Amino acid sequence: MAKDVMRHLISIDDLSTSEIIGLLDRAEWHRVHATRTTLFQGRTAGLLFLQPSTRTRVGFHVAMSRLGGQAVEITKTKYQVGMDRAESLSDTICSISSYFDIIVARNSSSEELERVVTLSSVPIINGGSGNNHHPTQSLIDLFAIRRRTGKLEGLRIGLAGDLSRSRAANSLLRVLQRFPPEEIRIMSPPDGNPSRGLIKAFASDIINYCDRIKTDGLDVLYMAGFPLGGRMLSLSSASRANFRLTQQRAEQLPDHGVVLCPLPRIDEIDVNVDVSTKAGYFIQSSEGLYMRMALLEKYLENYKQESQ
Ligand code: CP
Repeated sequence: MAKDVMRHLISIDDLSTSEIIGLLDRAEWHRVHATRTTLFQGRTAGLLFLQPSTRTRVGFHVAMSRLGGQAVEITKTKYQVGMDRAESLSDTICSISSYFDIIVARNSSSEELERVVTLSSVPIINGGSGNNHHPTQSLIDLFAIRRRTGKLEGLRIGLAGDLSRSRAANSLLRVLQRFPPEEIRIMSPPDGNPSRGLIKAFASDIINYCDRIKTDGLDVLYMAGFPLGGRMLSLSSASRANFRLTQQRAEQLPDHGVVLCPLPRIDEIDVNVDVSTKAGYFIQSSEGLYMRMALLEKYLENYKQESQ
């Protein structure tokens, strides 16, 4: 198989708008039919997660099982003898990519992931990299938005949290450029604003900045969160409180408004919001399985056709 025809999914920009709509429709098909098939019997997905994950790792594992295939999870690479750093991602990919039919990978560096795809003998799907790319999460977000509102365009969408360091928020902003919203409300402290490059792709009169959470009028409230420590912005507890979704703030959303969140939650959404009809995050997460099935199908089918 010629390596230059193999398709990988590293950024949401790697998909055309018609491919995105096709994936949403296919995920909906899997949801409606609760698909369990033997289609990919004998095929194996390598789940190479070099950063922690629950939903993406387990979700792709179960999605592969529902399609009749199997998955192998790799959460650590071998440490080089006598050295204090892990084996390089490129050496790992060169060594084991041929064991698999597809790889889903999570890595701290998007640049490193982009470099190693050329070394892989099978398609790679990015399960989250750096601060900037989480394409499978964006597709799950679009699926949740369309399921709840019936559309993708002309919505009033608010994003709250450390948006500069949230790969989910950055990836969602990237894909929303294809589906022009009526409003994008950026709710983050100045250090947590998304990059100007991402924002300038939208018409300037639809962008509103807020230095605290403001829920009125939003169709979709996306809680990107302020995880403690790690690669995220650290905030005082007073500042964190400005961006926390309380029950009272959730009730200020319109009746049809929905709260989404890539999860995991730290403290950005009060647990008593969970019982609100506006809380859409656990449904969003559980229905993410159907999008992961649609993605595995697309990239495994593409690989099969190209390698024949
Ligand atoms: N949304 C998301 O990426 O969750 P995990 O980190 O648990 O995979």
